[in-house]
Amino acid sequence: MIDRRSVLLSSLALAACGNTEAAPVADATPLKSIAPFPIGVAAMSGHFDEPAWVNLALTHVSQLTPEWEMKMEYILSETGDYRWEAPDRIADFCTAHELRLYCTTLIWYSQDSAFFRSLDPPRFRREYDRYIAEVAGRYRGRATGWDVVNEAVAEDGDGLRSCLWSDVLGQEGYIVRAFEQAKLADPDAVLFLNDYNLENNPVKGATFLRLVERLLKAGVPVGGIGTQSHLDIEIPAGRTRAFFHEAAQFGLPIHVSELDASLRSDSRIDTRSPRQKIDQQTARVAELTEAFVALPAAQRFAFTVWGLRDTDSWLRGGTRDDGKDSPLLFDAAGRPNPMYRAVMAGLRGD
Ligand code: G3I
Repeated sequence: MIDRRSVLLSSLALAACGNTEAAPVADATPLKSIAPFPIGVAAMSGHFDEPAWVNLALTHVSQLTPEWEMKMEYILSETGDYRWEAPDRIADFCTAHELRLYCTTLIWYSQDSAFFRSLDPPRFRREYDRYIAEVAGRYRGRATGWDVVNEAVAEDGDGLRSCLWSDVLGQEGYIVRAFEQAKLADPDAVLFLNDYNLENNPVKGATFLRLVERLLKAGVPVGGIGTQSHLDIEIPAGRTRAFFHEAAQFGLPIHVSELDASLRSDSRIDTRSPRQKIDQQTARVAELTEAFVALPAAQRFAFTVWGLRDTDSWLRGGTRDDGKDSPLLFDAAGRPNPMYRAVMAGLRGD
């Protein structure tokens, strides 16, 4: 039996491939009006100068995540000075438009600042604690949550990453310290451990969840699980649902924190037709949305996409970009992509 959702998603695939006679012209119902939990989007302060972006974002989302301007790369200079213009502007925009502010990230292996590399261990520990206190403390009362530690698990899922933070403070010591300091700085924010490829790579997902379990058993104030969900659309059906089932066992809030779903296949000759790519993308995104919707209400923290329009994506514009990737909900002109309709179908339980 062909269910309604398959017909809808297939006709969207036809539309995306230029064959539009079968594609229903669906209005772009505001996502936040359908979702019983916050819908978020990554934002840069420069977006606020674009009326088209502001209008589309305020129509569909109820939460913003600074895409990079609340990270160490922006805030901390090589001499240890802090700058706040852009993150403050994003926080103020959220306040002005009654949006939730979700913050990323306090400690990340890939951003360790030349300033920290210049410090002896005692000063390193003091400055580590100070950075977390200054940054998380500044947005206390406005930040709904933080990615306290980002991407702690090794790329292949075999153990944890080594980084400057682990070199000085210990393999898990830096993680424990970061959560403890963040809790002191903002006791009311939900404190997340965030990582990627948790659905795509079951080994990495399992390693991540074992880390969560160890931290919780040690009394570390981990308050939430962040799965970035940069989906590999070629993974088998059911893999995403399986991860959410395992992640839900801790009873913690879960944040789909950085959803995008590239159509590109970088590492091999891509024999898929445009329609096959869209079919894969809409099927995997619908599965992710349904898995999130199926969580208990208390565990549905937020559902965040890592950019609004395809041209806002980190996946566009780089050397690998062919100008054709469509990894987000809306096209460059703000029109709904098949991925938007896959999310909507998942939200509606179609
Ligand atoms: O806008 C400035 C520009 O004015 C300046 O000339 C240029 C060179 O310094 O930098 C530009 O800012 C860049 C910014 O993206 C906007 O394009 C930063 O250098 C660059 O580091 C930043 O990259 C971000 C990256 O994280 C590192 O922070 C990406 O936007 C962002 O999409 C990406 O997001 C990560 C998540 O945090 C973690 N998960 C993976 C995800 C994708 O890599």
